[in-house]
Amino acid sequence: MGNTVVVGAQWGDEAKGKIIDCLAHDKDVVVRWGGGSNAGHTVIVGDQEYKLHVVPAGVLNPHTLNVVADGVVIDPAGFTAEIEGLRGRGIACDNLKISGNAHVVLPYHSLLDQLEERRKGGKAIGTTGRGIGPVYQDKAARIGIRMRDFTDRSAFPDLLAHVLSIKNELLTKIYGVEPLDAKKIVADYAPFADKLRPFVDDTAIVVARAARSGKSVLFEGAQGTLLDIDLGTYPYVTSSHPTAGGATVGTGLGPTQIDSIIGVAKSYTTRVGAGAFPTELEDEIGSLIRERGKEYGTTTGRPRRCGWLDGIALNYSALVNGLTSLALMHLDVLSGFPEVKICTSYEFDGKKISDFPSDQGRLSRCKPIFESFPGWQEDVSNAKSWDDLPDNARRFAETVERIAEVPVKILSVGRRRDQTIFRD
Ligand code: IMP
Repeated sequence: MGNTVVVGAQWGDEAKGKIIDCLAHDKDVVVRWGGGSNAGHTVIVGDQEYKLHVVPAGVLNPHTLNVVADGVVIDPAGFTAEIEGLRGRGIACDNLKISGNAHVVLPYHSLLDQLEERRKGGKAIGTTGRGIGPVYQDKAARIGIRMRDFTDRSAFPDLLAHVLSIKNELLTKIYGVEPLDAKKIVADYAPFADKLRPFVDDTAIVVARAARSGKSVLFEGAQGTLLDIDLGTYPYVTSSHPTAGGATVGTGLGPTQIDSIIGVAKSYTTRVGAGAFPTELEDEIGSLIRERGKEYGTTTGRPRRCGWLDGIALNYSALVNGLTSLALMHLDVLSGFPEVKICTSYEFDGKKISDFPSDQGRLSRCKPIFESFPGWQEDVSNAKSWDDLPDNARRFAETVERIAEVPVKILSVGRRRDQTIFRD
């Protein structure tokens, strides 16, 4: 498969971690390109469950080099805790590198994230509160602090004092809260800088050289296409580029180096946080999907909003990412429903449309038009091949392919690695 991008095809939480973990086996390098501790992957290996936030899922394979690349934002405390947690469970994490260009999330970022959300009131985004918006704001405003400087004992205090002089004005004069103390932050964060320093490298060169020498690279997406700051459902989005294009700018590997792009989508749709969600089910079917699919956030524990699969959104995702195939997840969660539905067009201002309007204004006026299918009553969690699946489940997957206009090449029927069907 060469160099492969794995991208979330919905609003995040599509179980990308499992697919990345499955594909990482025969990859030399796994690279995470964007987002930060707002993300959360759960990976099940045997009877062990790992919850990962920033560390790439390839870390569980000792022969894979794992890179946290330029486009990622790193909370030093959370990231250090994640590494130590893995080490405590026997995962050495020696196969990990962090880009010196990755921006660092500091205490004023999460504080401002929460204060900004509160100030927005009814217009709040429903962020994870992890400082993601503010740290990307600083990056664009060119007042961010990057890993290379954060881990440089002589550079960090001066840089922080400069940035904090700006942030403290905001904190005290706009939000009326106490200012933060630069010396205290430097002292509190010095142990994290010491622990993370050995991992810092010029990862764009490391990854590009690995690709040039014929090594295979897996690009690990975080969040999902519909949360992309440009292509997603703005303003109810995150502040980075979870779409496939982000994999190149976020890592330094050129677009010509990418051989395939796998979109990961659940067999239904979920969303966390605010924003339009045309296929949302606020009834007992939605609750049943939430309970069966354990649809609670890995990072925040928030219950996820649930609904039937939105084929229009999926088709959009396939278009804007240039997907070459789909991984259809959580097929087992839909077992037992008498009927299952897929949204195949929207009604917008009295007209039927089949192109996804990504802006909140139009999307919030769209009503889903569904195609219904007889469900499958069989437990599919032991299916090992396409032929093992009940006819109705296969028909469902074929409809997904037709609507998305992309072949479904991977199907997931449970949380474990061995509950994965590769169609070719
Ligand atoms: P932020 O990324 O914390 O700024 O949150 C912005 C929006 O993206 C909110 O609606 C979050 O719920 C959503 N979001 C961020 N990360 C994830 C994720 O990993 N899964 C699902 N939603 C996410």
